[in-house]
Amino acid sequence: MREKYIVGNWKMNHKQEDISKFFEVFSKTTVGKNCHAWVAPQAIHLPFVLELSNKKCNGKLLVGGQNCCYEKSGAYTGEISPEALKDIGATFVIIGHSERRAIYKEQNSELCKKSSAALSCGLQVIFCVGETLEERESGKTEKVIAQQIIEGIKPLDKKSLQNIIIAYEPVWAIGTGKTATPSQAEDVHKFIRTLWEKEGLPNAHDLIILYGGSVKPANIGELMAQKNIDGALVGGASLKGEDFSALTIAN
Ligand code: PGA
Repeated sequence: MREKYIVGNWKMNHKQEDISKFFEVFSKTTVGKNCHAWVAPQAIHLPFVLELSNKKCNGKLLVGGQNCCYEKSGAYTGEISPEALKDIGATFVIIGHSERRAIYKEQNSELCKKSSAALSCGLQVIFCVGETLEERESGKTEKVIAQQIIEGIKPLDKKSLQNIIIAYEPVWAIGTGKTATPSQAEDVHKFIRTLWEKEGLPNAHDLIILYGGSVKPANIGELMAQKNIDGALVGGASLKGEDFSALTIAN
């Protein structure tokens, strides 16, 4: 049975008190045998979350960043250094979330540089791809995703690709309550795995592909039952310990 990865993307939410409450609940949770639980708090909370995770969770919750700079360190005021992320104990970073692409106009070429910097610092990269509603309705889903992968991932050093995870997040399903149906998601996941192989990228069979977009305890089961879905990137339903626990117990 393939292992599952449930990754909470906390976005720009939570005060320290909310995080403490999350840990009160999650620390008592027994994560499913085949499940890895990860969370990405906002950068300012990383040390606090790492400390609580170490103290209360005994290694069962890995912690990562939501974004990083395309350089390892240096004169980039206000940026997040991938080297510093690794140094404080983060194990992964999310790159190219649709909010970064849409609001901050991040392009595939820049996301490729960010991924390269993060990988060279020893972080795993969750690289997000996904189409807008307009793109889906005009039949461009596969074209858009292929371009995101060919421009964002293919130029990277092949050896480092074992540390890349793909998150398929249809933009129209993020924070909207509209989840892709399990078969819509499975179709795109299968397309990504096939594309990976076709483009000569290594280990297509082992590539971890997460689904994201309005995943919650009520719909996770049918999504995770799909052959090519290896986990979920979860926003809203990862914020509260109760919901996140339910997602990780189920897998
Ligand atoms: P959502 O967000 O679960 O709130 O739809 C998912 C994401 O943005 O990663």
